[in-house]
Amino acid sequence: MKLLVTGGAGYIGSHIVWQAQQAGLECTVIDNLSTGLGDRVSCEVAQIDLAAESAIGQLEKLLSKGFDAVIHLAARKQVGESVEKPELYFKDNIGGLANLLLAMRSTSHHKLVFSSSAATYGMPNKDSVSEDDPTTPINPYGQTKLIGEWMSANAKQWGLRAVSLRYFNVAGTGKAGLADTAALNLIPIAIGQLRAGKSPVVFGNDYPTPDGSCIRDYVHVNDLALAHIAAVDYLGRESRPFDVFNIGTGKGASVIEVLDELKKVSGLNFQYEVSERRAGDPPKLVANVDRMEKELGLKARYGLTEIIDSAWNL
Ligand SMILES: NC(=O)c1ccc[n+]([C@@H]2O[C@H](COP(=O)([O-])OP(=O)(O)OC[C@H]3O[C@@H](n4cnc5c(N)ncnc54)[C@H](O)[C@@H]3O)[C@@H](O)[C@H]2O)c1
Repeated sequence: MKLLVTGGAGYIGSHIVWQAQQAGLECTVIDNLSTGLGDRVSCEVAQIDLAAESAIGQLEKLLSKGFDAVIHLAARKQVGESVEKPELYFKDNIGGLANLLLAMRSTSHHKLVFSSSAATYGMPNKDSVSEDDPTTPINPYGQTKLIGEWMSANAKQWGLRAVSLRYFNVAGTGKAGLADTAALNLIPIAIGQLRAGKSPVVFGNDYPTPDGSCIRDYVHVNDLALAHIAAVDYLGRESRPFDVFNIGTGKGASVIEVLDELKKVSGLNFQYEVSERRAGDPPKLVANVDRMEKELGLKARYGLTEIIDSAWNL
């Protein structure tokens, strides 16, 4: 089976390529290397900017080689930057997907796995969110992910079958060389601060949670990578035009619990600072994973300790 993985030189994409290759699948990567690193993967890397005007022709040429499914990860992902520079997010995340869909249509490629995000839910006020809960993203990044889902769903008109995976907080490292270099969420940020001799920061300790800090659902990047392979499999056996799955563990950990675990794993008895709440942080964001477990046949294999241990050591 041949997979085309856009954004495959990125943190998550390179884990997908690695695991797909281990499962005997052949991969080709498209990446503009804006944040990705070509040496993360050992397969063909086509350097294409998906959002460029020239992309459709380049994509059609590449797709004419024939692929069984496309996994689309290439996107910008910084929430704060998306508020400052929304146009860039609409150009790359929406424009890039539009070009990809046009090229898939003209080359008769009908299976897509789309990288979505829990950011599509916005600020849910629930213990856990399910795929049928309202989607009310509160920043341009989350909006581009929701629009991407609509675009993928609407492409059923020409026969596309798509699965959208709403990732929760992705962290950890599968093997040396594939680590997240972006430091945009708690675990890599806290590790970076410790390595720089600084104290990690807890933004807000007055949330309505047991220890007052925000609760998130941390999913190991290896479990997430496997979910993409399961989604390709699902597209091969199911005929529904569009489905959405949360990808998480179904369990929450607070910021303070994460930092306590980091103390154990690192052996450093560090202090953390407490700062003001950040705008747009829901107190609790945990996935309901019933659909993932039932329909994709997946259950998270790794917990917080393995996530932090791999992020610290690899
Ligand atoms: N990391 C997370 O916690 C998280 C959570 C939810 C969703 N996601 C989504 O997962 C996907 C991958 O995220 P990641 O963490 O691996 O980020 P990443 O930045 O490491 O990977 C994104 C890859 O896409 C490439 N890219 C970006 N714009 C491109 C373009 N216009 N044309 C071609 N290539 C382009 C980058 O060079 C990079 O290799 C993104 O769509 C992101 O929104 C990530």
